[in-house]
Amino acid sequence: MKVEILTIFPTIFTNFLQTSLIGKATERNLLSVTVTDIRDFATPPHLQVDDAPYGGGAGMVMKPEPLTAAIESAKERLPKASVILLTPRGSQFSQSKAHEISTREQLILVCGRYEGIDQRVIDLLIDEELSIGDYVLMGGEVPAMVILESSVRLISQVIGNPSSLSEESFSTTGSAEKLLEAPQYTRPPEFRGACVPETLLSGDHEKIAAWRKEQSMQLTAKRRPDLVNPKE
Ligand code: ADE
Repeated sequence: MKVEILTIFPTIFTNFLQTSLIGKATERNLLSVTVTDIRDFATPPHLQVDDAPYGGGAGMVMKPEPLTAAIESAKERLPKASVILLTPRGSQFSQSKAHEISTREQLILVCGRYEGIDQRVIDLLIDEELSIGDYVLMGGEVPAMVILESSVRLISQVIGNPSSLSEESFSTTGSAEKLLEAPQYTRPPEFRGACVPETLLSGDHEKIAAWRKEQSMQLTAKRRPDLVNPKE
């Protein structure tokens, strides 16, 4: 997968892209990420990337010219990419969306800042707007990392043990259909007086699977009743 991230804070991504699975996927040529500074496309001497909103109101709006030039330049490098804007106004990102994105060959992620970007850029060049949740961050950089991390780990060959994907929370591929994951334990069998549940030590795989399913259902009903009884 080839990804280009457009941002006015490129250094935010430096460690992220070198670390953990993202770094490994890059080393193994399964992933290639370029980070482009939108300010490189702004006009000297001020290199201004934002301006006051027409009609008044708080905050600043990202100017159309540098952002458009940055997106068009990225599209030249990645002609098959869809252009995704990270914004709290976007449709809700989810595990199934991560699966869908993980199958794409090319992707351009546009990180909005300030109060948003000029609507004409959205109308002209943005294919899709995504939000990672109902809260407002200072910009789209952290959401871009969320989308990248959740999608890249789903690229086949990136994760060592793919069966761990089918049993995790929100999985739509395994037996744990849209349930929260059951509690996990590792050694030692007793820690500060608390023991690992007997069933997990039994070696009886059927009993263990049933225990996990029951724990998953109880936890999901308690914490996320919306997953047990979806409205739609
Ligand atoms: N930018 C600011 N807040 C955001 C959010 N919740 N999701 C995506 N992009 C954002």
